[in-house]
Amino acid sequence: MKILAIETSCDETAIAIAEFLGSKQTPRVRVLSHIISSQAKLHAKFGGAVPNLAKREHQRNLVPIFLAGLKEGGLLEKRKSNFPREVGLSKIERILEREPELCAKFKKSILTISPPELDAIAVTYGPGLAPCLWVGVNFAKALAYLWKKPLIPVNHMAGHLFSALLRESGKENFQFSIFNFQFPALALLVSGGHTELVLVKKQWKFEIVGETLDDAAGEAFDKIARIMGFPYPGGPVISRLAEKGSPKRYSLPSPMLHSKDYNFSFSGLKTAALYLIRDITGSMSWKTKTKLTARQKADIAASFEKAAVNVLVKKTIRAAKEYKVKTVLLGGGVAANRKLRHDLETALKKELPSFRIRPLGEFPGFARPEPRHWLRTQFPSSDLCGDNALMIAAAAYFTGKKKPWTEVRVDANARMN
Ligand code: KG4
Ligand code: ZN
Repeated sequence: MKILAIETSCDETAIAIAEFLGSKQTPRVRVLSHIISSQAKLHAKFGGAVPNLAKREHQRNLVPIFLAGLKEGGLLEKRKSNFPREVGLSKIERILEREPELCAKFKKSILTISPPELDAIAVTYGPGLAPCLWVGVNFAKALAYLWKKPLIPVNHMAGHLFSALLRESGKENFQFSIFNFQFPALALLVSGGHTELVLVKKQWKFEIVGETLDDAAGEAFDKIARIMGFPYPGGPVISRLAEKGSPKRYSLPSPMLHSKDYNFSFSGLKTAALYLIRDITGSMSWKTKTKLTARQKADIAASFEKAAVNVLVKKTIRAAKEYKVKTVLLGGGVAANRKLRHDLETALKKELPSFRIRPLGEFPGFARPEPRHWLRTQFPSSDLCGDNALMIAAAAYFTGKKKPWTEVRVDANARMN
């Protein structure tokens, strides 16, 4: 099955074309194209993605990236015949009426190419920034209408979950296999907009067992970075700084660490960090950058990261025990955080002695028989933690339901269950 996937839920415009081969249990994935265009630089000075600015950029970038994706995948061919009479230009204009710049580019370029050999078009329908989601969804609808292809609407967080299952296999470029795991599984999904613990009891029934009550983990990293004067996205900056700092110098709280549920809260931690910076510098202004020494910044970053990671790890372990899961997965932009990966792995080893990391290169069938109770984990490769369309293609393949384009809509607050 060959799927073309489109992702525009936040500030990355991404396209992937992936072919899923072999059995549904252990498919191989041939990636024909995988392109991500980040707008992060554009939003850097605003401290977060600005929806209308992001929408404008998606409109500008989507067609060129899409054409580059088709070309990379060897699927770009000029249309030999005129496009069919029954295809109404006015219909395409109506589908794209809220994205005029995209519509103009669509008419100029897409109408001139041959319908590529694809089984379906997948697109992120939510959650995310509504104006951004609409760019991808309307573009996908116009394509589906023009090329008579089924659409698969994909939940963005499901995409992050599936990013953990994709792993590069062998030495050949762009060949992936899918981590074949046992249910029940627990996924910690940590991104700029969401923080969720998702239980997957069976194929593919998702249940959110815990989530943030206020800020998302990534958002908290972004805010602390901003308070210290660093550009968006703040997560990578904070984690780099934290590696040089001491987490013991300042004490910051891990909110809701002891609550009985699996929910999170990061706004209290953010406020505590803000007060700490105020006390050190005597100022609440974002211009405190100049007043903090490099040592203080590194120590604040390390203390903040420790407090945030601590609660994420503890709650994941507790939920893994309670639900007796056999697999633990990690996903989302914050999954790139090295301390989170390290601490989660260490805690799983310590607290769940049956824990085992599947060694690289070990495939089902070749593996020694294992006791059934062994818990395994899989973290996404660092280049698949952030938003990308390959994870959307994978989620579409496993969980997707093909729909006629007329039935696909954006849901900015879509939930996995
Ligand atoms: O999943 P993602 O790319 O986009 C959303 O769906 O939101 O996540 C982006 C978030 C940003 O908040 C970014 O600061 C954070 O992931 N992030 C990190 C790291 N790399 C990215 N947070 C902590 N440590 C990192 N290394
Ligand atoms: Zn995301």
